[in-house]
Amino acid sequence: METKTVGVLGAGNMGHGIAQILIRSGYTVFLHDLSQQFLDAGAGRIAKGLNRDVEKARMTAEEREQALSRLKTTTRVADLGGADFIVEAVTENLEVKAGVFRALEPHCGPGVIFASNTSSISITRLAATTQRPDRFVGLHFFNPVPVMKLVEVVPGLATSSDTVEVAERLAVSVGKTPVRVNDGPGFVSNRLLMPMINEAVYCLMESVADAKGIDDVMKLGMNHPMGPLELADLIGLDVCLDIMKVLYEGFRDSKYRPCPLLEKMVNAGRLGRKTGRGFYEYAK
Ligand code: 3HC
Repeated sequence: METKTVGVLGAGNMGHGIAQILIRSGYTVFLHDLSQQFLDAGAGRIAKGLNRDVEKARMTAEEREQALSRLKTTTRVADLGGADFIVEAVTENLEVKAGVFRALEPHCGPGVIFASNTSSISITRLAATTQRPDRFVGLHFFNPVPVMKLVEVVPGLATSSDTVEVAERLAVSVGKTPVRVNDGPGFVSNRLLMPMINEAVYCLMESVADAKGIDDVMKLGMNHPMGPLELADLIGLDVCLDIMKVLYEGFRDSKYRPCPLLEKMVNAGRLGRKTGRGFYEYAK
C-alpha cells in the first residue's frame, strides 16, 4: 500500500522536524501533541524551516504554501486514524510511548505501520506493547532532522520484512539514507556516540580541559562538526542521560556508567539549548 498520509506523534525537537520533511516531500501530516501550545510552537518551527528553504531557493513560495497546507495539527489522537503510517516521537520513556500507542491503536486500521523514533529503547519491547508487533519498526532520525541524512531502520524480533521495506521506502522518499540496524541497546548510533559524550563530561568533571578545550580537540583534531559537549547541548542533556542509562542497564557493564556531572546538570535543569543553559549558555 502506498503511504500518503502520516501521523506524527509529538511536535517537539524531533517530531516537528520529521513532520517538516514529510510535508515537504508531498505527504499529508497529522501532527499530534498534548496541547495546542506545543503544536503552535512545532508548526512555527516548521514554517521557519520552510521559509529558510524559500530564501535559499530550495523551494518556491508556492511550494512552501502547498507544503504548509498539508500540515494538520491536532490534540486528538483519533484524528490520526486516517493515516497510513504513524511515526512516534514523544518523550523517551517506555511507559509514555506505550501509553500513546495504546491510545492510538483502536483508531487505526490493522494494516497501518507504527514506527518509533526512539533513540535507544528496545523496538522488540515497544512492539510487544501493541497488537501489531509485525507492523512495528524503529525509524531513528537525527537532529537537526532536515539536515542529517541518516535514518536507522530497526526491525524488532517480530517485525515483518514488508514493514521494514515500507519504512525504508518512506525514509528514501523524504531524502534520507536508511541504514538497517538490528535491535540492541542504543542501536549503532547511540552506542557509539553517547559513551563519547559521557567520556567528554568525565574529562570536564576531572578538569582535564575546560568545555571549549574538549570540544576544540574533537573539532580540530578529529574533524567533528561540533564538539561532544556542544552536541550534548543540542541533543539535550536529559536525553543523553536517559540513553546512557539504557546502555548501562542493557549491557550491565560499568563502562556505560553515566558521568555524575551529567546527572548533576540534569538535576539542576541545565538541559542544554532548550533551557538556555547546558555546558554553554544560550540566548533565550
Ligand atoms: N535545525 C534546522 N536546521 C539547522 C539547524 C537546526 N537546529 N542547525 C543548523 N541548521 C541548518 C542551517 O540552517 C544550515 O542550512 P542552510 O544554511 O543551508 O539553510 C545548515 O544546517 C548548516 O548550518 P550552519 O552553516 O549554520 O552550521 P554548520 O555548518 O555548523 O552546521 C550542523 C550545523 C548541521 C548542526 C552541524 O554542526 C552538524 O552536523 N553537527 C552535528 C549534528 C549531529 O551530530 N547530530 C546528530 C545528533 S545525535 C541524534 O540526533 C540521535 C539522538 O537519538 C540523540
